[in-house]
Amino acid sequence: MKFAAEDAIYLAERKALSQELGPRELWSVVDHWPLYCGVGNLARFIAISDLLRSVGHIPGHIAEFGSWKGANLMFMTKLLRIFDPHGSKTVHSFDSFEGLTQFSAADSDATAQRGRYAGNLAELEALIALYRLQDDITIHKGYIEKTLPELLDKDTGLSFSFVYCDTDLYESTRVILESLHPRLSAGGVFVFDEWNHQTYPGETVAAREFLEAHPQQYTMEHVAHARQPSLVLRKR
Ligand SMILES: C[S@@+](CC[C@H](N)C(=O)[O-])C[C@H]1O[C@@H](n2cnc3c(N)ncnc32)[C@H](O)[C@@H]1O
Repeated sequence: MKFAAEDAIYLAERKALSQELGPRELWSVVDHWPLYCGVGNLARFIAISDLLRSVGHIPGHIAEFGSWKGANLMFMTKLLRIFDPHGSKTVHSFDSFEGLTQFSAADSDATAQRGRYAGNLAELEALIALYRLQDDITIHKGYIEKTLPELLDKDTGLSFSFVYCDTDLYESTRVILESLHPRLSAGGVFVFDEWNHQTYPGETVAAREFLEAHPQQYTMEHVAHARQPSLVLRKR
């Protein structure tokens, strides 16, 4: 895999350096985050910011499928506070907080990752409260295969401009794409974290099947300079 050797060296070196430097107070690290953040992570957040801003004029809320600890979720919500402080858009987060559990045949060897990325909802809620973001974020706890169709049945007026697919797995991604296709505004985007990912093929299979079922309705965009997110489908 591209970058694998480079990553292994970097991870070993930063582990050794953190042992040498000793423990740090959490907020002193947070407040000086560019000192500690790697270029790959920085590129990821710049890419997400660019994509979110590219749909600033498109009507519809933001959704993230698979929020884990909430880093991406909080980043996008804080961006809205900066770029659209008086706007009506909010962020919907969908997660079971159980980690990877709902596998299909299309996920292939990803079953070996069962239970990975289990989250902590109470901790996430405490951080949302710290930054007074309760009115900007709605968390839908449970399996997406159930929570998303239920929400769409209940709230028939709900539409989206930005949908981030990051469950890593086939069936949830399939449900997201098919359920939200009619609810995504023209010009809105489906963003994928694991397109062409070797460990998690399910997201790619679901995206490919979706494109075959809806030809001509989306344009595919490569995400320049970031490893992840890795694909954007923009609705015509
Ligand atoms: C890779 S993590 C998400 C990372 C996150 N977006 C971030 O920025 O750090 C995948 C998440 O998807 C969630 N997940 C996977 N399959 C799911 C399903 N069928 N329903 C609900 N949540 C699911 C897991 O609980 C996990 O939190």
